Amino acid sequence: MHLHSEPYRNPALPAAARVEDLLSRMTLEEKAGQMTLVEKNSIGLADIADRFIGGMLSGGGGSPSRNTPAAWAAMVRGFQEQALKTRWGVPLLYGADAVHGHANMRGAVVFPHNIGLGASRDPDLVERVARATAEELAATGVNWNYAPMLAVPQDIRWGRTYEGFGEDTGLVTELGAAALRGMQKTAEGARLGSPGTVLATPKHYVGDGGTAWGTSDMFLQQQYMLDQGVTPADEATLRAIHLPPYVEAIRNGALCVMVSFSSWGGMKMHAQHYLLSEVLKGELGFRGFTVSDWGAVQRISSDLLTAVVASVNAGLDMVMVPYDCRAFLGELIRAIRSGDISIQRVDNAVRRILMVKFEMGLFEHPFGDDSGLAQIGCDERRQLAREAVRKSLVLLKNQAGALPLSDDTPLVFVAGRAADDIGIQCGGWTVEWQGQPGDIVPGTTILEALRASCPRTTEVAYDPPGEFESRAGRAPVGLAVVGELPYAEGIGDRADLSLSEEDRAVIRALRERCERLVVILISGRPLIVTDWIEQADALVAAWLPGSEGQGVADVLFGHAPFTGKLPYTWPRSMDQVPQGDPVRPTSTPLFPYGYGLDAGGALS
Ligand code: BGC
Ligand code: BGC
Repeated sequence: MHLHSEPYRNPALPAAARVEDLLSRMTLEEKAGQMTLVEKNSIGLADIADRFIGGMLSGGGGSPSRNTPAAWAAMVRGFQEQALKTRWGVPLLYGADAVHGHANMRGAVVFPHNIGLGASRDPDLVERVARATAEELAATGVNWNYAPMLAVPQDIRWGRTYEGFGEDTGLVTELGAAALRGMQKTAEGARLGSPGTVLATPKHYVGDGGTAWGTSDMFLQQQYMLDQGVTPADEATLRAIHLPPYVEAIRNGALCVMVSFSSWGGMKMHAQHYLLSEVLKGELGFRGFTVSDWGAVQRISSDLLTAVVASVNAGLDMVMVPYDCRAFLGELIRAIRSGDISIQRVDNAVRRILMVKFEMGLFEHPFGDDSGLAQIGCDERRQLAREAVRKSLVLLKNQAGALPLSDDTPLVFVAGRAADDIGIQCGGWTVEWQGQPGDIVPGTTILEALRASCPRTTEVAYDPPGEFESRAGRAPVGLAVVGELPYAEGIGDRADLSLSEEDRAVIRALRERCERLVVILISGRPLIVTDWIEQADALVAAWLPGSEGQGVADVLFGHAPFTGKLPYTWPRSMDQVPQGDPVRPTSTPLFPYGYGLDAGGALS
């Protein structure tokens, strides 16, 4: 048999013709396999080929045991080689959550989380950041990113607030489309499939940012309060607030959409025929494929067959199983054989998946381009992240000319655990699903950056509790770096967004030991600062800046201006959360959406 004799292998043919040729050769089992997305540790190598698996993923923290770029590349290559052994050699999509750089991988550049990019208001920056992320993914063979996150978070108690660009639909729409272009197109405008591009996945369709407190499935995780809950919005509100980012993403070439864990109209999104098939694929003209979220199909019903039938018939094309693909495939094939799922629906799902694989050029280039391995974590990309950090900082208060720090400051007292902890400044979705404090990725902490940036005549002393017991007197400047510890998803749902008692003690202690106090807040959302802001001469919201703390020092020393603007309304107290709650009176927030000073004290 001639290996290249089948029409579908011929890159000169249009993708649609190749899809039809390949589809006509496939058995039911082969089709079902293409609809299956498996977590990498949940499948033996041989099963990838034996079950014709269509996609695999690294979940949060899903690194190879040696977490290096070379090991990532070798791991993905190993999986891809299995898929290519099948009789039709259909390549795998391999996905990861590179939501702020290829951050599961040690050595990648970790960019600010989307909340900081939202503060920048800079679509060109967002596009360049997404492109750098895609290049680091592609170099390791990961051809699929579960990003951009297009939620329009309406309640900052949500543990995914920082994954969103902001509370405003227009902002999310503009920056989400920019991120999508960055992942799917080269700087020269070459399309998806060109070296350094990856398939993007706008998520989570739709209304994930609009859930109501206390509506999450309690059986899963006691602490989930908003995440995966119920979106109470009526259809007009859902369309006005949460849908527009998808319309724009599709216009910009989105070919994969991840469905939301949340529910709407009394039904899980994963079972919504109306929103998946009629609105997304019909009305919006989405021609790519839908993918489920992690184990979300199983949550439709405790009976797997019922769940599979409901979701696939609703318009779900690929299922992130993620663990037990045998059970899933068994039920999917059973449902097709019995006619509960029509072969037309299966063909439509597989057609969509194959079309994307052909358009990505995966049949011609199934392996990434590992010539990019040497560039992972390179200086050019670190400089880009540093630029992003500079543009993400929002100056909320600046009295007595506290900022920028003057060059003739002889002594700066730095306090707070977050000042010298790269894990804290990176936040969730970094090496681990939940992130982790400590020295987890290479980069520069804020303290290291301050020391590198200050004039030789300035001494930077660090005492985490801010007491400086071994020193006499007061420093002209005190810098407290405080905020939230890393979290992700519903684990970060929190009723009270006050600063921890430990951090408040740091601020009190340092206040006693300095003339002017600057507070840098590291957090995935606005925190309540009302009870201590009077003690601070300056307050900077730095969000979750990532691996390049240098960007913070640049702005503090006045080497770059403050330009960031709030992507979320900043509440005075928890009574003002969520904003626009119909049952509470509207009161003036501490800082409105869009607020941000320049160092001169003017609204920038
Ligand atoms: C999250 C998604 C993510 C997926 C894979 C889910 O729990 O909701 O955003 O893409 O896991 O890690
Ligand atoms: C995985 C994440 C996933 C989460 C969902 C974790 O174990 O690492 O990728 O989003 O489970 O609950």
